Amino acid sequence: MQTNISSAMSREALRRRTFGIISHPDAGKTTLTEKLLLFGGAIQMAGAVKAKKAQRHATSDWMEVERERGISVSSSVMKFTYADHIINLLDTPGHQDFSEDTYRVLTAVDSALMVIDSVKGVETQTRKLMEVCRMRDTPILTFINKLDREGRDAFDLLSDIEQTLGIQAAPMTWPIGMGKSFQGVYDIERQAIRFFAEDGKKTARPKEALVINGLNDPQLAELIGEDAAEQLRTEIDLLEGAGFPFDKELYLKGKQTPVFFGSAVNNFGVQELLDTLVRLAPGPIPRVAECATGERVVNPLEEDFSGVVFKIQANMDPAHRDRIAFMRICSGRFERGMKVKHHRIGKEVQLSRAITFMAQDREGVEDAWPGDIIGLHNHGTLKIGDTLTTSEPLKFTGIPNFSPEHFRRVQLADPLRSKQLAKGLKQLAEEGAIQVFRPITDSSHILGAVGVLQFDVIIARLKAEYGVIALYEPCPISAARWITSSDRAALESFKSDQQSNLAYDGDDCLAILSSSEWRLSRIIEEWPQITFHTTREIR
Ligand code: G4P
Repeated sequence: MQTNISSAMSREALRRRTFGIISHPDAGKTTLTEKLLLFGGAIQMAGAVKAKKAQRHATSDWMEVERERGISVSSSVMKFTYADHIINLLDTPGHQDFSEDTYRVLTAVDSALMVIDSVKGVETQTRKLMEVCRMRDTPILTFINKLDREGRDAFDLLSDIEQTLGIQAAPMTWPIGMGKSFQGVYDIERQAIRFFAEDGKKTARPKEALVINGLNDPQLAELIGEDAAEQLRTEIDLLEGAGFPFDKELYLKGKQTPVFFGSAVNNFGVQELLDTLVRLAPGPIPRVAECATGERVVNPLEEDFSGVVFKIQANMDPAHRDRIAFMRICSGRFERGMKVKHHRIGKEVQLSRAITFMAQDREGVEDAWPGDIIGLHNHGTLKIGDTLTTSEPLKFTGIPNFSPEHFRRVQLADPLRSKQLAKGLKQLAEEGAIQVFRPITDSSHILGAVGVLQFDVIIARLKAEYGVIALYEPCPISAARWITSSDRAALESFKSDQQSNLAYDGDDCLAILSSSEWRLSRIIEEWPQITFHTTREIR
């Protein structure tokens, strides 16, 4: 029996691929997501993801904000099967104002897929997201998209990735021409040519690659023309001399990214990505957790169940006013109805109504394995960062809160609703939608956000979900840091000196709020015994 469980565990865990897509808005993430689902057989028709988004927007008030802005605020999970593997694709909002949500989603993946627009190269949002991936050495595959357009030179794009992102770029395919003269790609490892056909959009599956006998095969010129063949030979020659050959170890350590060229909208290059994901990307990786004796690495194949909440989303189904906690299974097997320990609140809870997210729908889940993401109906007992286990108390680490860059003081239109306001803000803060600070010297609420659009969402949600009409007052704050110190006396004197600038956040952690970075840097210089943090681990 024991061996059966373990062998089922390794079989199931090892065939999971849990990944997220990182990109700058407009690089083609939605298009690529849709094509991945199409190739994975999870949807029948291109357009379904966008249509589904539009439909969701139409049904909820606060998502109206999202629709008006034409951006995606919420992330979702899409599960599908490809080549006998279970793929969990975690979608992330592309807009920078919701990057905190994206950061947290990235803590739940085992690898990432980076999409770069061949015309624009590496853009700011990609750079920021890459920094988050680097914190965990997440392995990254790169897809350079829109080769059907006149874009930047392929060498130029590789050196942009290397210099801007500080990671080696190892091309797996190489473009033959671009824009109007884009003919396809050369598969370096297989020595094969994959032809581009603009009507690939309609056919869904590309033609098989044509294997040639190396670049000196006389067929090459016949196939792609003498000039293109000569250029390809020169470029591959140059690559062999100066480029980085693919090295799986370096990829798995997050030090090198295999690069593919293609055109998502034309279905070109998508299959190679899926095949590579299955062949090279890691299955569930071991994760570090705090335990009774300090810290330990939790292996996904351990029999005891453990999982961590990395995201909470409200109103996914506005008819039910529900809040769903997204949990990443880190080890063991989840079974419907199982009892687990919720260590933060010291209670045992039964997980009877978990859901899984298929591409088009959500459905009840009977069992799930390491790498899977399940949704738990949540009535306020689960917070981001909560760890549930069947045995020892564990606390998975590494889900960050980022120090906010924008601040607003909240004012109530109707002072009698202050209880509802406090409740709403508490829940929205637990969800990670905003950070809430309570100054120690007065009873106001100061909201902190990484992106200003978060403020609009909060006002809309306070009204729709809590019946609270709130407004913002300007507030002269523009920087914040969390405060800790091992020197108790110094901390006490800091507190009394800086009282009017101090506040507690939603988790009762102390922070300093300052009117400018410059002022804050003076304070930091004056108090060397105090540590000022720009990120805080979620407790
Ligand atoms: P995002 O989620 O990263 O923000 O990007 P999205 O997929 O929405 O794509 C942004 C735009 O780029 C879309 O055009 C999309 O059709 C286009 N696009 C995606 N892949 C390719 C490609 O391989 N080649 C070319 N030429 N364009 C591509 P749009 O006009 O904004 O929207 P739509 O009306 O086409 O949907």
